[in-house]
Amino acid sequence: MSGGRFITLEGGEGSGKSTQARRLADLLRESGHDVVLTREPGGSPGAELARAALLSGAIRPYGVEAEAVMFAAARLDHVEHTIRPALMAGKWVICDRFTDSTRVYQGAVGQVPDALLRGLEHATAAHARPDLTLILDLSPDIGLARASARAQGAQADRFEGEGLAFHRAVRAAFLEIAQADPARCVVVDAQGNAETVAQRIRSAVLSRLPEARRARVPA
Ligand code: TYD
Repeated sequence: MSGGRFITLEGGEGSGKSTQARRLADLLRESGHDVVLTREPGGSPGAELARAALLSGAIRPYGVEAEAVMFAAARLDHVEHTIRPALMAGKWVICDRFTDSTRVYQGAVGQVPDALLRGLEHATAAHARPDLTLILDLSPDIGLARASARAQGAQADRFEGEGLAFHRAVRAAFLEIAQADPARCVVVDAQGNAETVAQRIRSAVLSRLPEARRARVPA
C-alpha cells in the first residue's frame, strides 16, 4: 500500500492549472512534505516523447482512437516510472492533468467509445487513483484569451486550436465528472487572480486531506 497522496488538477485551456500546481507543490513543501510535481501528457522521459507527437497534431490524422491509445501509452510510462515510485516512497504527487482529461477530451468530446477508454484507464491507472482531483472551472472565453496571451503569438497546439464550442463541451464534461464523483472531485472557481485561486485550492486541500497541514518537524 502506498503512503503518499495523489492530487490531480484538471480543467480547460487557460484555467491556470500549471501555475496552481506549482503553488500547491510549494505550499505542501513548506508543510514538510516531499512533493513530486508532474504533468500529462509527459512526466517521464518516454511520455515526454509521446507528448511532442500528440500536441504537435502528428497523431491526429490517425484518428481519435489512435490519439487515445497514445495518451494511454504515455500514461503507462508515467505511472510506472514517476507516479507509482513516488507514492510508494510516501511522497505527495501533484499531477497537472490525468485520467479525467482523457475522459473529457477523447471521451465526452472526442467520442472515443467508452469500452475502449475504460479498458485503457484500467490498464494504465488502476494502481494510481487520485485521492483528490481539483477541477479548475473557468468560462472558455476567459480561458482561451488567457491561453493566447500566454502563447504570445506562438501557434496554438492540437487542442487549443479547436473552436469555442469544443471548449464549452470540455467545461461541461469536467463539471459532469465532478458531479458524478463528489468524494474525489472538488470544483474550484478559477476566475480571479492567481492568489485568490490559490487560497481556494488551499482550503479545498486542507478540508479534503487534513494531513496536508502536517507541520515540519523542527530540527
Ligand atoms: P498542455 O500544453 O499541457 O496544456 P494545458 O496547459 O491546457 O494543460 O496540453 C495538454 C493538452 O492535451 C490539453 O489540450 C488537453 C490534452 N489532453 C488530452 O486530450 N487527453 C489527455 O489524456 C491529456 C492528459 C491531455
